Amino acid sequence: MSAEKLDLLYSRERIETRVREIAARINAEYVGQELVMVCVLKGAFMFFADLVKHVTVGPVLDFVRIASYGKATESARAVSFSKDLETDLQGKHVLVVEDVVDTGYSMDFLLNQLAGRGTKSIRLAALVDKKERREVEVTVDYAGFDLSEGFIVGYGLDYAERYRELPAIYVLTL
Ligand code: IMP
Ligand code: MG
Repeated sequence: MSAEKLDLLYSRERIETRVREIAARINAEYVGQELVMVCVLKGAFMFFADLVKHVTVGPVLDFVRIASYGKATESARAVSFSKDLETDLQGKHVLVVEDVVDTGYSMDFLLNQLAGRGTKSIRLAALVDKKERREVEVTVDYAGFDLSEGFIVGYGLDYAERYRELPAIYVLTL
């Protein structure tokens, strides 16, 4: 049976501080602009909800869900939309909000798709940037934390659909 162990990595206070810092940058950089903020479901839901509470530029909010086929350990993975946006992005500044950028395949797909819709600009915010694990080039413009190793859960992030509800982030050991 389950001998899963959780070790605290980022407390709710640390996350809250980073979220406020990121929001302050967004508020400074998008002042007076038409911004669409896109939440990548499901993992980014908590980060997105906390982040937008501190965003003062009046963004339009939308949600997307992408599915990737093939094991995470295989390199060329196929990614597709399982729920597309409902907002017209033509002429808009777009900020995609993701939980973790790991190999980069998911965000490479999404950013390229959205950039093809006539956006004025497109940037990426990610709570956790696993930079050293990148297999395709993806730049995180607003990163919460850099992480070099470990599988994490909580604050929206899951392991087999569990632990998303936890208010902090933990390293999971199986
Ligand atoms: P990528 O396409 O390899 O960059 O995959 C990124 C996706 O993998 C994220 O959206 C997460 O859903 C998932 N992921 C990567 N690392 C973790 C982790 O440590 N915990 C939970 N999910 C993760
Ligand atoms: Mg995800």
